[in-house]
Amino acid sequence: MSRMSLQQRPTLAVEIAGLRKTYAARGPAPAKEALRGIDLAIPTGAFFGLLGPNGAGKSTLIGILAGLVAKTAGVATVWGVDLATDPIGVRRRLMVAKAMVHDPPVLVLDEPTAGVDVELREQLRRMIRGLNARGTTIVLTTHYLEEAETLCDRIAIIGNGRLVAHDTTANLIARVDDKALTVALDRDLAAVPAALAGLDAALEPPRRLTVRYRTGETRGEAILDAIRAAGLPILDVSTRGADLNVSFLRLVREGRAADEGAPAHAARPEAA
Ligand SMILES: Nc1ncnc2c1ncn2[C@@H]1O[C@H](COP(=O)(O)OP(=O)(O)OP(=O)(O)O)[C@@H](O)[C@H]1O
Ligand SMILES: [Mg+2]
Repeated sequence: MSRMSLQQRPTLAVEIAGLRKTYAARGPAPAKEALRGIDLAIPTGAFFGLLGPNGAGKSTLIGILAGLVAKTAGVATVWGVDLATDPIGVRRRLMVAKAMVHDPPVLVLDEPTAGVDVELREQLRRMIRGLNARGTTIVLTTHYLEEAETLCDRIAIIGNGRLVAHDTTANLIARVDDKALTVALDRDLAAVPAALAGLDAALEPPRRLTVRYRTGETRGEAILDAIRAAGLPILDVSTRGADLNVSFLRLVREGRAADEGAPAHAARPEAA
């Protein structure tokens, strides 16, 4: 194993391969496979966010990186140090690091801003941002998607112990081609007209109609045509692209479907 000094910067701050964690059965609770083979590389200097639904395995993964949870199988390396093969060297090095370094090379945080008030949350975000700007690699989990979207430059999503996606935040959002088109109408409606039943349309009473669609399947122009053909003159139009929220939900749903061996879009009504 390479003995990396704290001054040397490895290319990857965290390297994980085939990582598995099974919590042993305890009393009536059966054994739980919390991580089912995770491969993940986090570049040095990254501001990395780990997202996933409740019980996905986020805290387990973070706990392994922090040396608080013992892995069952696989490799996990933090700053060039293999967590499994060298646990007592690691601890001493961490103590040295604690004593000598103001800015740690890697900071691992599990939901650092959960359950704190708005002001403290802002302070924490500023502090973590400052550390990252000075070179610390940040690895954190959060349930606040807007927080991940604004803070993190890379995001991984896990679901049911498996990696569902890992990319730059921008790429992750761009991967999803969901859009919403909203039209302002010249008259009040009580419901979405039957003629538009083929669209994924919702009425914001009384005069705004929002249609969700995917750019790979439907053109905005075709939606406008359908609305006009339904006899509804359009006063104004606006469109909105996907955000991390949309991307997250889609990727988690696809991950779940892949886990169950079913096609991800089977249950989704498609726009005409
Ligand atoms: N000490 C433990 N013993 C047994 N099972 C555990 C233990 N810790 C976690 N689990 C189980 O492992 C799975 C993953 O849990 P984990 O806490 O890693 O999820 P999480 O993604 O952090 O969820 P949350 O978003 O709710 O914090 C869950 O099914 C959980 O119940
Ligand atoms: Mg957790």
